[in-house]
Amino acid sequence: MFARMITMKITSKDIILDTDERIRMQSEPVQLPLSNEDRELLQAMLDYVRNSQNDEIAKAEDLQPAVGIAAVQVGVLKQMIAVVIPYEDGVDEVALVNPKIISESVQNAYLDNGEGCLSVKGEHPGHVFRHARIKVRGYDLIQDKNVTISAEGYFAICLQHEIDHLSGTLFYDHIDANNPWKSDDEAEVI
Ligand code: NI
Repeated sequence: MFARMITMKITSKDIILDTDERIRMQSEPVQLPLSNEDRELLQAMLDYVRNSQNDEIAKAEDLQPAVGIAAVQVGVLKQMIAVVIPYEDGVDEVALVNPKIISESVQNAYLDNGEGCLSVKGEHPGHVFRHARIKVRGYDLIQDKNVTISAEGYFAICLQHEIDHLSGTLFYDHIDANNPWKSDDEAEVI
């Protein structure tokens, strides 16, 4: 008799790239309460992001470091994302089902060095302008309830990046091809 492996595990080999046509597809809403299958997948996504930030585990398990992941990136077209932003004194982390941005600031924000993505190997330098502050509604697996999250700064940017994946949008779609490093005096630079 062999012990049956029941825990789903995502590694870098499971991540699809932007050369895969599925990355451009629309993800479907997920039925709640979560099925066991959906719950396992979202938990595995959250575990991937958490573990990828631990140097030892990341090396041992072949996890490319990340702060977020969307289900489409493992080839599953369902509206689920996980984001983990560690700080010295805590963490912003969510595992969201059917996340919707319900409000957004007029002010923009961008990462000074541009964005990256597990599904993008090519170089796409440039500023990605996003909303500096957003409110996101969805079901959070970590808290096991519907939540409304107010996010700003890096957390807000990561949430927008992952939610973009659910409609097949990649970060470099937002880069101005004619002036990739253009700035915005009103924007928050992160
Ligand atoms: Ni991405």
